[in-house]
Amino acid sequence: MSKSSTQPSVHVVGIGEDGLVGLTPIAKALIDSAEVLVGGERHLDKAPDIKALRIDWSAGFGATLDIIKSHFGKRIVVLASGDPFHFGVGATLVRRFGADHVFVLPSPSSISLTCARMGWSIPDVTVVTIHGRALEHLNLHVTDKVRLVVLARDGKSPQEVAALLTQRGFGGSKITVWEHLGGDKERKIEALAQDWTEECAQLCILAIECVAGSDARAYSRLAGLPDDAFENDGQLTKREVRAVTLSSLAPKPGEVLWDVGAGAGSIAIEWMRSSRSCTAVAIERDPDRAARIARNAANLGVPKLKIEHAEALEALETLEGTPDAVFVGGGVGIPGLLDAAWARLKPGGCLVVNAVTVEGGAALSAFKTEHGGDLLRLTVEHAEQKGQSATFMTAMRTVTQYIGAKS
Ligand SMILES: C[S@@+](CC[C@H](N)C(=O)[O-])C[C@H]1O[C@@H](n2cnc3c(N)ncnc32)[C@H](O)[C@@H]1O
Repeated sequence: MSKSSTQPSVHVVGIGEDGLVGLTPIAKALIDSAEVLVGGERHLDKAPDIKALRIDWSAGFGATLDIIKSHFGKRIVVLASGDPFHFGVGATLVRRFGADHVFVLPSPSSISLTCARMGWSIPDVTVVTIHGRALEHLNLHVTDKVRLVVLARDGKSPQEVAALLTQRGFGGSKITVWEHLGGDKERKIEALAQDWTEECAQLCILAIECVAGSDARAYSRLAGLPDDAFENDGQLTKREVRAVTLSSLAPKPGEVLWDVGAGAGSIAIEWMRSSRSCTAVAIERDPDRAARIARNAANLGVPKLKIEHAEALEALETLEGTPDAVFVGGGVGIPGLLDAAWARLKPGGCLVVNAVTVEGGAALSAFKTEHGGDLLRLTVEHAEQKGQSATFMTAMRTVTQYIGAKS
């Protein structure tokens, strides 16, 4: 076992609403001996008597991190709320300075305090933050009987969340807002989402028990959502083929997909829904479709889907990065497209291509001969009623799928 001998350059102390009173002797001693004290205004106000150089984050994260760095060698203490590694500044500091330079003393997080007040087991809740993030992230998590803890952006967040729940058919969900948890001003407000009116304190957190109404829109996290989950103009990889396609693409946490000719964006969206850390770029040349992809991504809880409004070949030339997977859902016949996609894939990455025409299938067969991989053919039949008493199984267009791993 090896142990680093590096002295941490930055000490981070998590404090609660009760300020320095609730801290351990070690945390208090650290703050008392600080030469440089960093924190949001709210945090610095909780340590009025500390005679240190005081720096708040008002210059922005990047600039403030530079200022912190310029004081290395002095005793630097950063004040943060609760547990700095639970949706706090801890990860930002470690990303910039490295784990060896950052020493963190956490206090209970607002999530822990919320669960303690609600009598909820932390592993059983889903934590979502809309602090500095789009409200639509919530859409990924709203399903019947789920318990959500939502970190708020400000005092209007409860109204916005209540409106979103109601609009999705979850107006019967019970919202409990906790203001200033752990402090003198702690207050609890409860109401159903559909009845919510109150603007709350800037510092507040929401505990929600989701209840689906009869008109609720809620979706499985498993790939192969119903086709009508996506606004579309027909350019959509249909449900069963989409489920198989996502299985072939096999997203793993942290991986990046480029969805070439994204249509309604369904493949990129289901890729991102598979894990919080999966990201994707949807490449689409048609402006109406590009706008539709953005609406679908927000509605299905992945508003951070990147949309590249461009010709496929141009995007494959100019996009930065090396994707773990590329999906080509159309345009197999565009000369050079498959080669360009293959060239951009990272070694070990996966190319999946769907084609419905005979010519497309032939191009995939030729590509397989050159690069190896697998071909499969998917035929899906649905029952179709004809007249009063006859039902026929009607086949959709057969899809040929290429799956190749780049060595
Ligand atoms: C950036 S997050 C920081 C979370 C922090 N790391 C923690 O462990 O509590 C900020 C959000 O946490 C919530 N929060 C933090 N402290 C709180 C408190 N004492 N009472 C209510 N909400 C709190 C609010 O929703 C606030 O918008």
